[in-house]
Amino acid sequence: MIKPHGSKVLNPLYVRDTLRREQLLVEAQQLPSLLLNSAAAANAVMLGSGYFNPLAGYMNLADALNCAEYMHTVDGLFWPVPIVNICNASAAIKAPSRIALRDPNVDGNPVMAIMDVAIIEPVTDAQLEFMATKIFATSDLNHPGVATFLGLGTQLVSGRVDVLCLSYFQADFADTFQTAYEIRSEIAERGWEKVIAFQTRNPMHRAHEELCRIAMQRLNADGVIVHMLLGRLKHGDIPATVRDDCIRKMVEIYFPKNSVMVSGYGFDMLYAGPREAILHAIFRQNMGATHLIVGRDHAGVGEYYSAFAAQEIFAQHVPAGALEIQIFCADHTAYSKKLERVVMMNEVDDHGKDDFVLLSGTAVREMLANGQLPPPEFSRPEVADILMRYYQR
Ligand code: ADX
Repeated sequence: MIKPHGSKVLNPLYVRDTLRREQLLVEAQQLPSLLLNSAAAANAVMLGSGYFNPLAGYMNLADALNCAEYMHTVDGLFWPVPIVNICNASAAIKAPSRIALRDPNVDGNPVMAIMDVAIIEPVTDAQLEFMATKIFATSDLNHPGVATFLGLGTQLVSGRVDVLCLSYFQADFADTFQTAYEIRSEIAERGWEKVIAFQTRNPMHRAHEELCRIAMQRLNADGVIVHMLLGRLKHGDIPATVRDDCIRKMVEIYFPKNSVMVSGYGFDMLYAGPREAILHAIFRQNMGATHLIVGRDHAGVGEYYSAFAAQEIFAQHVPAGALEIQIFCADHTAYSKKLERVVMMNEVDDHGKDDFVLLSGTAVREMLANGQLPPPEFSRPEVADILMRYYQR
C-alpha cells in the first residue's frame, strides 16, 4: 500500500489504548482548559484520525509562516497550509505546561485532547494577513475562509497533542465517518491496490458521479472512495446528513456493488482552492489512496480561483517526489444534449455552450427552494427527491 506522507507508518494521534485514554481523561479534569474554536477543533480531529500524519500537534509560528510562504515546515516537511491553534488564550494557560483542549462543537464542551504547550506566541495582524494571502490567495474578508482565519485570535498556542475524542463525528456519522487508519485497513481488507479518492462537499450530481466513473475506467482502478467533508461549511451549503443520504442512494443505484466506498472526514471547509487541494492530496495519501480526482474549481468559492488553478498548482509548485499520491486531472464535466451522456467538455467536438446542461450550484439551490426539481440530466431523480425534501422542509 502507498506509504503515508512523511513517515514509513501512519502515526495517528488518537490514543487507541483504552486504559491509557481513560487515564489521560482523568488527568485532563485536573488541568487548565482551553476551549478551542471550530478550526482548531477540526485540526484536532484530523490529527487524531491520522489524516495529518506526520504532524505531532499544532505548529509554532515559524512553521506556520514557513508553510504559508514556502509550503514546507522549517525542517523541510512538505505541507501547504499551517495547522494551527490560533486563539485568545486566558492568562491561566502557560508554556510549558499540559492543558486540556475542549470541544466547542459538543454540548458541555468535553475534553478532546491533552496538549503539551511548548510555546505561546503573539501573532500580529500583519502576520495573519500575510498567511491568509498565501493560503487563500486573497485577504478579502468576503472570502469565508479568510474571514474565519483572520478572526481566530491573536495568540498561537503550539505543541504536541494526544487526542482523546474525535468530536461528534463518530456518534453522528457512525456509518460514514472514518479515520485514515480505518480506511487503510478497509482498503487492505478489500484487497484494493489502485484506489481513487473523490473529495466532495456536495450531494453529488451527475457530473460528480461521472467523474468517478471516468477516473475508474481510465486508471483501471480497483475502487473509488467518495470521501465527503462532514465538518463545517459556509452558509448555504447543504448539510452533511443530506449529502450523505444523496451520495449513498446514488452509489447504491448507479455503481456496481463493492466498487465504491462511501466515507467521510471531520474537517471544516477552508475554501482555499489550490492550497486546499494539496492538503486534500496529503490526507488522501495518508488514508491509502493512490489517486485524487481534481476537477473544476476544486475547493473553490466565488470567483477567487481560476477554474483549473487547483490542477496547475500540482504541476507548478509541488516539488518532484514531495507526494506519492497522483492527481487525476479532469476537465469541466457536463451532460451533452447531443450525445445524451455526461462528457468532459474538452473531449467532444462540434459542441457549443448550449449543447450542454450547465447549472450553477446557486441556480440548483434556487430551483429546489422554489419547489422545482433539477433536470434529470443534471441530478439523478433519486438524489433530486432527497434534496427536494430537504429544501421543502
Ligand atoms: S469541492 O469544494 O469539494 O471541490 P465539489 O464537491 O463540488 O466541491 O467537487 C468535488 C470534486 O469534483 C472536485 O475535484 C471538483 O473540482 C470536481 N467537480 C465538481 N463539479 C465538476 C464539474 N462540473 N466538472 C469537473 N469537475 C467538477
